[in-house]
Amino acid sequence: MSNLITDYVASIRNRNSVFEFIEPQDNPKLDVRKGCILYIEDVNVSFDGFKAINDLNLYVNDGELRCIIGPNGAGKTTMMDIITGKTKPDSGSVYFGQRIDLLNLSEPEIAQAGIGRKFQKPTVFEEQSVFSNLELAMAGKKKVLPLLLAKLSADELQGIEETLELIGLKEQRLLRAGALSHGQKQWLEIGMLIMQKPKLLLVDEPVAGMTHQEMDRTAELLISLEGKHSVVVVEHDMDFVRSIARTVTVLHQGSVLAEGTMDEVQANQEVREVYLGE
Ligand SMILES: Nc1ncnc2c1ncn2[C@@H]1O[C@H](COP(=O)(O)OP(=O)(O)O)[C@@H](O)[C@H]1O
Ligand SMILES: [Mg+2]
Repeated sequence: MSNLITDYVASIRNRNSVFEFIEPQDNPKLDVRKGCILYIEDVNVSFDGFKAINDLNLYVNDGELRCIIGPNGAGKTTMMDIITGKTKPDSGSVYFGQRIDLLNLSEPEIAQAGIGRKFQKPTVFEEQSVFSNLELAMAGKKKVLPLLLAKLSADELQGIEETLELIGLKEQRLLRAGALSHGQKQWLEIGMLIMQKPKLLLVDEPVAGMTHQEMDRTAELLISLEGKHSVVVVEHDMDFVRSIARTVTVLHQGSVLAEGTMDEVQANQEVREVYLGE
């Protein structure tokens, strides 16, 4: 029995083995040599006969920040559900890089492969500090107990510092997450996802309920991820999408209606009819 305890203590003191699971997991299978990180081809999904996704074809470049817009019910959230494995399509193919067939993977396997998702409602550990939230997120919600008992290495500390800087919460590091504003919680959650080093980050309506100032800060934050991470942002707020000013894809009735710059998309007559109500 005492041996077991000694072994356990020894094991949690051994940084390398405790933190093996948070080593940068560059997925050796992820192949983006053709420049594309996400391929969605001829995808169809029906719910009780209703076609939520209809022959959807969509490609996202490696390192790109892509905005997806579209009226309510266009299929934006369903598309995210397909990428993350929550919903399996009736037909079509979905690849992460050229080689990882996402339709063959479970939700946890997809997360493990390097796809992170941020839901609309922030889910932070309210009773923990901002710093601890980032620390816990490094573990990908596994092995939380050894993580709390073990000391952080210099690299891990630096990773947390960099993320605090990125999300603009350096001064709030010791604050209880529950005491943050709505916008700050959203940033903290983006930071928590980043601690897991995803290659592709999916963000559903990040600025809902934010002040204008918070929206500007969120745009900066997402833009600063460009290059290091590929990011797909679904958003209703046109001013926000314009402030990001990247390629915009318009979804309508489960397929791509238009794609281009915000100006191109807003000048498109079909888009004006279905989305802007003209
Ligand atoms: N689990 C489900 N069961 C039945 N219908 C669904 C389900 N999920 C989505 N839908 C329907 O599919 C359509 C697309 O929904 P959704 O992807 O949530 O659109 P968006 O996010 O663009 O507003 C909607 O008409 C919605 O009612
Ligand atoms: Mg939605």
